[in-house]
Amino acid sequence: MKPIKIAIFASGEGSNAETIIRYFASKPDFEVVFLLSNKETAPIVRKAKSLGISVVICSNKDVEDISFLVDLCKTKEIDYIILAGFLRKIPNTLIAAYPEKIINIHPSLLPKYGGEGMYGKFVHEAVLAAKEKESGISIHYVSEEFDSGRIIAQYRIALGDNETVETIQEKVRQLEHQHFAPTIAREILNM
Ligand code: GRF
Repeated sequence: MKPIKIAIFASGEGSNAETIIRYFASKPDFEVVFLLSNKETAPIVRKAKSLGISVVICSNKDVEDISFLVDLCKTKEIDYIILAGFLRKIPNTLIAAYPEKIINIHPSLLPKYGGEGMYGKFVHEAVLAAKEKESGISIHYVSEEFDSGRIIAQYRIALGDNETVETIQEKVRQLEHQHFAPTIAREILNM
């Protein structure tokens, strides 16, 4: 059987993208075809290259273009797109070309603390300010509205009385690294 072709989009550190690349490297059902970044200097660009993954650098203008990403993914015969800290809005043309085939991870229990402007530390700051007793991650399909596509899975962590943004971030990150790649694999293979 032909492997399922994956593209990963990432803009920053890329700890999740790296975890996914390493996980799929030993899974013959999958092939990570390329990593796309809108930031040439992002740490993930160097990491992906060192792991032997092709890297595509694009501009923010390319991301906004109605056909650039569709043409790129269709030309490379991509089956699924994984967003791992990709900080630009995905154009509706790509969502329409890949319905329920674009998967994102969000560092909160959606629908709480999602939507425009809710990313990175802003999420954990809001969780802390609301004195939440738990937080977690949501792995979900991408739809036209920010953070509102169908949820595939959520994983939770308990929060104590002395949490800081950094402790929440660290706990959430561990959860992401533990669950993102296996959840993607399960979801795709069980379809
Ligand atoms: C993660 O917290 C993820 O939930 C969010 O962006 C962050 C990316 O972190 N979508 P990293 O670049 O993978 O370390």
